[in-house]
Amino acid sequence: MSGPDLRRAAAARALDLVRPGMRLGLGTGSTAAAFVDLLGERVRAGLDVVGVPTSEATHAAATRAGIRLATLDEMPELDLTVDGADEVDGALRLIKGGGAALLREKIVACASRRMVVIADAAKRVETLGAFPLPIEVNAFGLRATQIAVEAALAAAGCRGAVRLRLAGDGSPLATDGGHRILDAHLGRIPDPEALSGALWAVPGVVEHGLFLGIATMAILAAERDGQAEIT
Ligand code: A5P
Repeated sequence: MSGPDLRRAAAARALDLVRPGMRLGLGTGSTAAAFVDLLGERVRAGLDVVGVPTSEATHAAATRAGIRLATLDEMPELDLTVDGADEVDGALRLIKGGGAALLREKIVACASRRMVVIADAAKRVETLGAFPLPIEVNAFGLRATQIAVEAALAAAGCRGAVRLRLAGDGSPLATDGGHRILDAHLGRIPDPEALSGALWAVPGVVEHGLFLGIATMAILAAERDGQAEIT
């Protein structure tokens, strides 16, 4: 089975959690896109739900799929958010933001009673940090913020390079909110809670990609005997 098959299998299982009338947070990334696609099929068959997208890309995909959308201001309390992740550990701690949507993803997930992660089981890790940690920062004072971020990483026991994320044309990538992303290549994060606190103390840090105590369930799909096995 290919990665897309596994992502779609995880997304299909999450669909079982959706009930008529639910207010849904719609995540960003390829796995969340598979969920939006499948949800659209159900909506076209008569399911009545409302979605809040976590990015402009998801807004466009959900609109194409025929899903009724609202803003988080119109619907500030959600029943369920379904989103992908870049890494998930045994305590349901996540790294997110590989798709640069971490800020809206975290706001939407925290406005939801439940957040369900859907992913290829290859995203499961013992220790977070092999995936570069995205840190969303204000464009103003970028260099000073990066120096302060590097000091915060060291104070939290992390080592590694911090790199400004670039767009395809080589210019600094701008998030949906107009911010920049610093990717911290750490290898391992010994104490995610300590790192989270240290990063939040840096002026200029808008949000970081550590989702701690937010996810309530992970649906992970692995291949077994040519079939998708969900754990
Ligand atoms: C988007 O900013 C990310 O948090 C994604 O949810 C994450 O990168 C997972 O993406 P895939 O489902 O494409 O692996």
